[in-house]
Amino acid sequence: MEGKILASEKIKKAAVIGSGAMGHGITELLAMNGYEVSMVDINDEILRNAKEKIKWSLGKFVEKRRIRQEDADATLARISTTTSYEEAGRDIGVAIEAAPENMDLKKTIFAKLDHATPSTAILASNTSTLSITEMGKATKRADRVAGMHFFNPPHQMALVEIIRGDGTSQETVATLAELAKKLGKTPIIVRKDVRGFIVNRILGAAFNEAFWAYHRKEGTMLGIDSSVKYTGGFPMGWFELADFVGLDIAYEVGKILYEAYGERFKPCSDVIDPLIREHKIGQKVGVGFYDWTKGRPRIPFNLLDEYDVDRSWAVAVNEAAWLIRDDAASPEDIDTGMKLGTYWPQGPCEHADRSGLDVMTNKLKDLYTKYNMEMYKPCPLLEEYVSKGWIGKKAARGFYK
Ligand SMILES: NC(=O)c1ccc[n+]([C@@H]2O[C@H](COP(=O)([O-])OP(=O)(O)OC[C@H]3O[C@@H](n4cnc5c(N)ncnc54)[C@H](O)[C@@H]3O)[C@@H](O)[C@H]2O)c1
Repeated sequence: MEGKILASEKIKKAAVIGSGAMGHGITELLAMNGYEVSMVDINDEILRNAKEKIKWSLGKFVEKRRIRQEDADATLARISTTTSYEEAGRDIGVAIEAAPENMDLKKTIFAKLDHATPSTAILASNTSTLSITEMGKATKRADRVAGMHFFNPPHQMALVEIIRGDGTSQETVATLAELAKKLGKTPIIVRKDVRGFIVNRILGAAFNEAFWAYHRKEGTMLGIDSSVKYTGGFPMGWFELADFVGLDIAYEVGKILYEAYGERFKPCSDVIDPLIREHKIGQKVGVGFYDWTKGRPRIPFNLLDEYDVDRSWAVAVNEAAWLIRDDAASPEDIDTGMKLGTYWPQGPCEHADRSGLDVMTNKLKDLYTKYNMEMYKPCPLLEEYVSKGWIGKKAARGFYK
């Protein structure tokens, strides 16, 4: 609107709490886009290392001629480091917390930020799974506490999930979405503080289906991954992707989804637990489902028919339907999230509209009859749409009109 100053225009300075894998990347991104950033961690050595990583990364951008040396220098000059929350928080417009994934720690940090920052500042968390509402309760400004979930690495991945806690104001959500756009990102809105938000929740459903199929010996690891990649057009197979993400992280997220949604996310413990026990947690340690010591696993082309990829789609569509039914997300944001957050070739809602919601629902019903597992039980929203004849493109109405 003409004359109206966007709330995000008021943000000139930011603090980033935690300078690890995500925190240093978020700091770099903010500073590259003109923000003054104070990066906070528990000691100076960690902060020095983080700043070195940023310097190295900016050097790479210069090498690739994406930015000029003077831009890199100016970016670095906008970053300061400190172990003091008071110093970092003094006159900021936003703080983004990227400390380890532990609720007690995050609550302590939010309480400290509440004291150390202007009362108008927005306090955001980069948490992958934890409750934004709980973090808000640790402050006296729950209306200005929200999730701002970047994907790894933050400068490369285009997606940011903005999560609304129970107390978060609409203005805070809108301001963070504007800020994400100013950083060159596409924000999607998670309207409720649901576990797994959008992307990890739908991905978790696809992982689980594949792990159970493998457990029941309906496919081999290579066969499932070959089908997912070469028939489904996904960038990686599910086992390859789980290794890439880290089985420790996939395991933790899986546990949280199970706690939140019950039997629909029953984890396939026989497949994943032994690997966790032996610390075979994927690419970062050289072994998980696959051996990564000689680089990426080679997924053979000739097994591309071994697994029915529509099964992955069916559980993903089902979870998308649950998100919509709970009014936690829109079909557009779900599809954008899966395409930008995990490079899926289509979003689940688009896929269902093209293939037919009736086809997807029947697939789920068949699987439910066969295996009697909750993950296959069609969401009531799917049944409702199908009964109304909203079966997708062929009816001009499905998830989309
Ligand atoms: N790594 C990913 O792929 C990824 C992606 C999206 C979101 N996340 C989320 O981002 C957050 C950070 O993850 P990460 O992978 O960067 O972790 P990390 O372990 O690499 O970094 C955490 C940093 O926080 C610092 N820290 C610990 N206690 C602190 C305190 N009290 N005050 C300030 N700093 C403190 C640590 O010293 C460390 O440098 C987590 O909530 C995680 O779930 C991670």
